[in-house]
Amino acid sequence: MVKQMQNLNARPIDPALQNEIIKRTEAEKALQKSQERFHELRQRANERNTELLRENKQLKQEIDDRNRIEKKLRAREERHLAEPEKKDLEKQHYHAQKMEAIGTLAGGIAHDFNNILGSILLNAELAIDDLPTQSETQYSLNQVVKGCHHAKDLIEQILTFSRDAEFERRPLQIDAIVKETLKMLRAMFPATIEIEQQVQGELKTVMADPTQIQQLVINLCNNAVHAMGAAGGKLMVALSDEVLDTPPSGSDLQPGPYVKLVVSDMGCGIRPEIRGHIFEPFFTTKRPGEGTGLGLSVVHGIVINHEGSITMESEADKGTTFQVFLPAIGKAIVLTTEAEPKQLQTGNEKILFVDDEEVVVDASVRILDRLGYNVSSATSSKHALKTFRMQPESFDLVITDMTMPGMTGLELARELIQIRPDIPIILCTGYSQMITPENITAIGIKELIVKPFNRSEIAAVIRKVLEKSVTGQ
Ligand SMILES: Nc1ncnc2c1ncn2[C@@H]1O[C@H](COP(=O)(O)OP(=O)(O)OP(=O)(O)O)[C@@H](O)[C@H]1O
Ligand SMILES: [Mg+2]
Repeated sequence: MVKQMQNLNARPIDPALQNEIIKRTEAEKALQKSQERFHELRQRANERNTELLRENKQLKQEIDDRNRIEKKLRAREERHLAEPEKKDLEKQHYHAQKMEAIGTLAGGIAHDFNNILGSILLNAELAIDDLPTQSETQYSLNQVVKGCHHAKDLIEQILTFSRDAEFERRPLQIDAIVKETLKMLRAMFPATIEIEQQVQGELKTVMADPTQIQQLVINLCNNAVHAMGAAGGKLMVALSDEVLDTPPSGSDLQPGPYVKLVVSDMGCGIRPEIRGHIFEPFFTTKRPGEGTGLGLSVVHGIVINHEGSITMESEADKGTTFQVFLPAIGKAIVLTTEAEPKQLQTGNEKILFVDDEEVVVDASVRILDRLGYNVSSATSSKHALKTFRMQPESFDLVITDMTMPGMTGLELARELIQIRPDIPIILCTGYSQMITPENITAIGIKELIVKPFNRSEIAAVIRKVLEKSVTGQ
């Protein structure tokens, strides 16, 4: 064996083979090394992978957390935003409900007041009749009648303000509105402001929206008071009828009758260079936050809506005067005090008078009686219906109130017309939105008279209806 080895050793090795062996050995070593390296890499890749997966998971978690937080924040923000809005809505809703309640209340008060006034008015007229003319007591009672008319206007105003603030022009004497507005402003202005009021009574009528007129007065007075500053001074507001022969310069008014409103102050005046801008929206010389510069542009808009004109005169440190002209549409409405026609319209027909207010029935029956009529009365519509049903042919006319418990005047009228289609009916109403001249004629009612009425009004309506019924109209 040793020999064999020796032999082997002795045999010279083929250098090519030897080379081959060395190369193979090196290749095997290299392979092993690269296998080891591969393992190592794979392990590191695995480790890295696990690491990445962990990081990925963490990142995902972070993203989820962040999203959740953002969502929470957004919800909170939205809640914060929604809160004032919700409050606003609640406020609006509350305000609307309050306005509705005031409207209902005003309607109710107006109804009762009109009945009270009706009775005072008619009783005063009855008393005036019984007294010698020119007596002092008659003068006093005429004043009562005058007061009733004034109260009637005030009720009309309460109703106007309590109704929806839609702008709506209608024939109006604006003195009461101006006076009421000044009373309200007096309470708001500092004591350093003296308000001088020169308001003519029984003004001509203008086509006006009462809310807008109030706004106009408020804006002009606010500016005047602001111009007088802390020192204060006199604010003069005048209202009068004026017939223009030559319209004021700078206005495109036609000659004719106007109602003139003047608002004058003793303030700083308006500098000539800004006079051309004062009616522009957002033009203001006030510091930011003190005014929007909308006051006079609103005034201007209102004047234009009323087909009127506004002029301004100003002197530095002396003051400013604004004049507003609103076209008058008619003669002054003369209150029917002594102006009642001498010749009252009388008659002797049979009338059924229906009203749930005893004071109204009492005064009206006496008035109608004095006018010569043969009057029966009822203080409920049920009772009226019963009386009428017993002798439908014996009545020439029915005068009924609208608002009565149980059965309204309209319902009563329907029943009466069923019994006797040709019976003339007059409906008395204070304040009711459901009634229009159209729907009363549809039922067959001949005339509508607004409460509180005075003697000459009811006398005239009665004759009108009776004459029509005779001629079969
Ligand atoms: N009576 C006045 N005396 C002096 N300046 C006046 C008078 N009225 C108006 N002005 C001037 O006209 C500007 C515009 O008036 P306007 O009523 O439109 O806005 P404002 O009073 O400034 O702001 P806002 O009415 O919105 O509170 C005022 O800033 C003021 O410079
Ligand atoms: Mg202003």
